[in-house]
Amino acid sequence: MKVMVIGSGAREHALVWKICHSLKVMEVYTVPGNAGTAFIAHNLNLRPTDIENIGRAAIEKQVDLVVVGPEAPLASGIVDYFQKLDIPIFGPTKMATQIESSKVFAKKLMQKYKIPCPDGIIFDSYLEARQYLELHDSPIVVKADGLAAGKGVTVANFKEDALKALSDIMEAKVFGSAGDKVVIEECLEGMEVSLLAFTDGDTVIPLVPACDYKRVFDSDRGPNTGGMGSYSPPGFFDTTLTQKVTETILIPAVKAMAEESIPYKGVLYAGLMLTSEGPKVLEFNARFGDPETQAILPRLKTDLVDILLAVVSNELEEINIEWSDDACVGVVMASAGYPGSYSTGYPIEGLDKLDKDALVFHAGTKLGEDGRAYTDGGRVLTVTATGKTMAEARAKVYNNLTRIHFEGCHYRRDIAAREVN
Ligand code: AMP
Ligand code: GLY
Repeated sequence: MKVMVIGSGAREHALVWKICHSLKVMEVYTVPGNAGTAFIAHNLNLRPTDIENIGRAAIEKQVDLVVVGPEAPLASGIVDYFQKLDIPIFGPTKMATQIESSKVFAKKLMQKYKIPCPDGIIFDSYLEARQYLELHDSPIVVKADGLAAGKGVTVANFKEDALKALSDIMEAKVFGSAGDKVVIEECLEGMEVSLLAFTDGDTVIPLVPACDYKRVFDSDRGPNTGGMGSYSPPGFFDTTLTQKVTETILIPAVKAMAEESIPYKGVLYAGLMLTSEGPKVLEFNARFGDPETQAILPRLKTDLVDILLAVVSNELEEINIEWSDDACVGVVMASAGYPGSYSTGYPIEGLDKLDKDALVFHAGTKLGEDGRAYTDGGRVLTVTATGKTMAEARAKVYNNLTRIHFEGCHYRRDIAAREVN
């Protein structure tokens, strides 16, 4: 088989790495990929949203399965396009991707089908939204409706911050038309966890849970990022909770989509807050999480390609998914200045000095003409290790990480620390 993976992050490198383990797979293409995927697959230099050219490339290369990493091509309709070409593709259609690409759509769906989520109100008028904020106490959460590269949510501790966020979104239009509407919702407290599920629109099978670290500095200080690390499994989220979330959130969401005549296939990602009233949905994503995937896939024992094909062909019911009991920790190494502005083009040293069982998933990297990897983005690598215990996985990951270096690199020292202290 020939498989094509769309995207260029560490999540996509992890997908490519796992797909390469399948005995069915002869060739993997990454669009556009990075230095890490270049070592194990063929990179095709196309933008992930350049759907027609990706379609042409898939036909030319006789690709048997396409797997979509990021949300932008899903929201642009890449799945609908490939379905028309009759090329099997893993991911939801443009309509179904609304569960991620429109916070208003997701909130209405959860409200209609009584899926546990924070109380919230939808506004399409700036003045009405402002009036609402004036009358309500903080903390309060303001969310731009559309995709905003992970920056559309403000958890405001003070009224001024909420008003500023609202004005940025709806008046200044900092996210463009993604800010035509907003959701304003109650601020929840609790531990956060990500639970993803494979679904063919009928059968729903959860993956193992994982935690994501969004802030740039230790102890959750500093600005939000695309994710600075992850680990699986969280000790505070046991199999009973996985079952509960599957029954009260994931299955009802997939059923709700079917009921709305918008069948959902692919991975459904629930970002959850474990509140005193039980787990509630902060967000749905229509894809694999990054950096969660880098800590989840190393624990998967079943052939990933078998699962992806079963989803595409509506045969997920036939599949038994097995996981290792190992713990897995992934730590992101980022460029100096990230998540603000940063420079690129620095050589990455030490990748050849790692233990055999340490994994390095590349994100913002590029292969130089000398065959070495150079930095090419904000988040550069996710270094991942597994162990019999979280302490072992954590020790291994940090031990290996200190052997890697590039100009100005920084990373969090506390990924999974709460599980071992
Ligand atoms: P989202 O993109 O909706 O997941 O929001 C990004 C982050 O904002 C989440 O991971 C939470 O840390 C936080 N967040 C979102 N909604 C809420 C909420 N209603 N209450 C508290 N925190 C929230
Ligand atoms: N880990 C958050 C996301 O993938 O959106």
